[in-house]
Amino acid sequence: MSDELDDFVNELQEQIFEETRADYGEVAFQRWLKPLYVGAMQDADGYSRVTGTCGDTMEFFLKFENDRVKAATFRTDGCGSSTVCGSFAAELAHGKSPDDVTDITGEMILNVLGGLPEKDRHCAFLASEGLQAALD
Ligand code: FES
Repeated sequence: MSDELDDFVNELQEQIFEETRADYGEVAFQRWLKPLYVGAMQDADGYSRVTGTCGDTMEFFLKFENDRVKAATFRTDGCGSSTVCGSFAAELAHGKSPDDVTDITGEMILNVLGGLPEKDRHCAFLASEGLQAALD
């Protein structure tokens, strides 16, 4: 009985993974499995908290050294796409000057991760909005 349940759960998980990979692409899927730059930063120089019209909230934390982003992290209570987009937004910010961070747009995040389904594109724009707000 337990083996049957295990098999069922494993098959179900594999099916969900396959559908997610097909819908979101390999790059986004892998980042969703292992998101980078997640977590709060105690001594951040920049912080933001933005809530999208979808109701999800994202926070960004930036640490600067020599006028460059030394570290960038994020947290979100949102969807899987907000995690993927927050992770790429933080990654793109690393090593950038404040001026260069202002160039990181939702479109840029979407390009890096290979696009998202139409219903999830706004997650990338919420991530870029949060990143920009942390500069202020
Ligand atoms: Fe709200 Fe993705 S659905 S950020």
